[in-house]
Amino acid sequence: MTKAPTLIDLFAGCGGMTAGFTRHGFNPVLAVEHDLHAAATYAANYGEDHIHWGDIAEVADDDIPDADVVIGGPPCQGFSNLGSKDVNDPRNQLWKQYLRFVQIARPQVFVIENVDRFHKSAEFQLLRDEADHGMIEDYELTHGLLLAADYGVPQRRTRTIIIGSRVGRIPHPEPTHSKFPTLSGTQPWRTVRDAISALPERPDTTELPDTKTDYFGRVVPGEFKWLDLHFGRKPREQSLLRYDCIPPGGGRFDLPDELLPRCWREKKTGTTDVMGRMRWDHPSLTIRTEFFKPEKGQYLHPQWEADRPERRVNRVITHLEAALLQEFPETFAWCGSKIQIAKQIGNAVPVGLAAAIARHVQSYLQ
Ligand SMILES: C[S@@+](CC[C@H](N)C(=O)[O-])C[C@H]1O[C@@H](n2cnc3c(N)ncnc32)[C@H](O)[C@@H]1O
Repeated sequence: MTKAPTLIDLFAGCGGMTAGFTRHGFNPVLAVEHDLHAAATYAANYGEDHIHWGDIAEVADDDIPDADVVIGGPPCQGFSNLGSKDVNDPRNQLWKQYLRFVQIARPQVFVIENVDRFHKSAEFQLLRDEADHGMIEDYELTHGLLLAADYGVPQRRTRTIIIGSRVGRIPHPEPTHSKFPTLSGTQPWRTVRDAISALPERPDTTELPDTKTDYFGRVVPGEFKWLDLHFGRKPREQSLLRYDCIPPGGGRFDLPDELLPRCWREKKTGTTDVMGRMRWDHPSLTIRTEFFKPEKGQYLHPQWEADRPERRVNRVITHLEAALLQEFPETFAWCGSKIQIAKQIGNAVPVGLAAAIARHVQSYLQ
């Protein structure tokens, strides 16, 4: 293509996927997001003119422009094998909305991102049925699991990626990175060290700056950039004692009995990542929406030395560190409270993964 391909981002969140696509020259013409603070973050980075802040069902057919590519992951309601395959089931309404946009915008390609268990969902079956003999029957689907680390993201996050194309079947992009690079001619996985080692180990604030901005006629906290997001927390003394016991790659099983909360003392197996400490020379595990709570995953800062207690950094990663592990650019602007921004970061598609898909898809566009 000679002119910039146009892009619609549905369920856009803060725009993680758009960040990957704009890196390869895509031109966003419409985004839809119903969370005010996520929509404000999107607007702060890509403009307020083309984002619809509100429910996807409110966007009239006439307001949907043509686009070369439609991206986005409709939230999945459930993964029961007994899930309904009935398109009229209310749980399927968001999927029908996605398909409505595809029918009207007539993209050459659409890309859906979802959680790794998505292939077990009723929504996935609905999508396949619609591609076989329904609303999107002229699209060929490719689906599979992609690991973000295999595309240069310093994070082991697995996502279902579906590519629908009416310009010939599009396979998934080939990995560019791997755990064992010498075998495959790829580069080594990028690591936590690559992403966050340049940042101050001890943030000098625990708060976001007190700034406000106006988006969609509403006042929202922000826009915050770069070190604004590098704030610490105020853990209790007992939490600090716990963090101090946990070496890189370790977790709750490294805690001595006297520091174990009762619920963990009674639960001897499972939930191995919780209270985990990252490792400098590995990708992180999945950054979720509550990465600021150490009991929710492997979120402790990787700096820890057995024989030098003074060289231990006993805190969870900051919002900035989480954003960098998701590969958001340094210039990215954020709106919302601490909790709302964490949700935007954890919900996003890693920018590097979206960029790898964008570059690949672009080469097929006519
Ligand atoms: C997983 S997040 C999207 C992340 C985004 N793709 C990114 O890379 O940053 C899903 C988003 O769908 C939005 N959403 C859910 N239901 C919606 C609806 N009915 N209309 C518009 N947005 C909706 C949620 O607020 C959430 O931000």
